[in-house]
Amino acid sequence: MLSVDGLGILSDDFVVVGRKPSVVREFGTRGTGFLGRVVLSKGDDPVLGRKVLVDLATSHVILVLGKRGYGKSYTLGVLVEELASLPYSVRSRTAVIVIDTVGIFWTMKVPNRDQKELLKKWGLEPKGFNVKVLVPKGTLPFYLEYGIPVDGYFAIRPSELGVTEWLGLFDLDLDSEAGSLLAGAVVEAEDKVGNYDLDDLIRIVGEMDASPHVKRSVAMRLAAAKEWGLFDKNAPRTVEYARAGAVNVIDVSTFKGAFGGQSIREVVVAVLGKKIFEERMKYRKVEEIQEMKTGRPVSEMPLVWMIIDEAHLFMPRGRKSVAKDVLSDWIRVGRQPGLSLVLATQRIDRMSDDAITQADIIIGHRITSYLDIQALSAVRPTYAGDSLDKHLATLPHTRGLAVLMDDVTEKVWVIRVRPRMSWHGGGSATALVKL
Ligand SMILES: Nc1ncnc2c1ncn2[C@@H]1O[C@H](COP(=O)(O)OP(=O)(O)OP(=O)(O)O)[C@@H](O)[C@H]1O
Ligand SMILES: [Mg+2]
Repeated sequence: MLSVDGLGILSDDFVVVGRKPSVVREFGTRGTGFLGRVVLSKGDDPVLGRKVLVDLATSHVILVLGKRGYGKSYTLGVLVEELASLPYSVRSRTAVIVIDTVGIFWTMKVPNRDQKELLKKWGLEPKGFNVKVLVPKGTLPFYLEYGIPVDGYFAIRPSELGVTEWLGLFDLDLDSEAGSLLAGAVVEAEDKVGNYDLDDLIRIVGEMDASPHVKRSVAMRLAAAKEWGLFDKNAPRTVEYARAGAVNVIDVSTFKGAFGGQSIREVVVAVLGKKIFEERMKYRKVEEIQEMKTGRPVSEMPLVWMIIDEAHLFMPRGRKSVAKDVLSDWIRVGRQPGLSLVLATQRIDRMSDDAITQADIIIGHRITSYLDIQALSAVRPTYAGDSLDKHLATLPHTRGLAVLMDDVTEKVWVIRVRPRMSWHGGGSATALVKL
């Protein structure tokens, strides 16, 4: 039996975070994910209580923090497993995109045999998930040679980048000669060619009215970009990477290059995020009309979850970033169109304040660095009347333990994140092997 008290605490079996008690009364726990259990005692191997269920049916900004090696990526994996396990009625309205900065999420296809005993204690079993792993086109032969299971390649149509992204990609300013030349060429390519490729852009740059050395330097940058294996005018439109019911893992770990400040992977996230944002804004209106007509707010475009590990790379503090601009839009206005972010970082002090101030669920694994505690406390000094540093300071060292702060129910829980059903790919490299 479901009983809801006024504080959002539910039944003896579970608590729901990120969902108002009124919504729980109406929809129960459908569309929530099993994140872990409440910690009831002190010590490294604490007594565990009620299940912690997290709302996955509406928009959230979830921030996963903590020192190296204390379970951030693991927790992201648990959330992705839960998103992939949602009942059909919710999953068919949800798309998940994992921005894999370290190249560790492909292992979700494989059952977690290593922690079989631990899983048993939790009443769970090892299980692989049907995630789609997409890698840059140029790296496909490597993955195939080593038998790493991939499902396809990821590429972007050059025409999906706007002037801002092109300039960001090459770290050019619109006021500079090279910047204005590139901007002019992009506009011309959009007008004259439509779905243009890099060769079209290089040709147009050559035809523009500018000094030869500036033309040459812009053309050379564009020619270098051909080598990245990122651009392909025959690629799917980026919004198609947000497919209802699917979990797409986009491996950006090998996109390392950068011309100056911003990296290729930042541009990948910026383009994906921007296009999905625009599309969701349109389809939200369709859903509202459907709701008026039929009572069911549905459309062809699913709600989207973007999961980003090492998120400080995309939301850097103190420098310009095309990705940061787009993700800030998701954070500030994503609730209305149904866009969610899960951001993990071990560098809170390097992360833009937007993510910290606006996150509605914070999962804090062990944090000891003075700079990080200061950065967190500066923007979120207290939580439900308690100081954050006090909560984090008393957290035992065990991996997987976390302080969970939930804005919706205004509650703070110390939790243990459940073991992963699928293989966790984030383990440390070691030269030691069993003999
Ligand atoms: N909830 C958990 N249950 C059991 N083991 C866990 C849990 N969380 C983490 N671990 C263990 O801790 C190890 C490190 O976790 P993880 O890779 O998530 O660290 P991280 O915080 O992402 O570190 P980094 O900052 O270096 O990326 C995992 O390989 C796993 O063995
Ligand atoms: Mg990690």
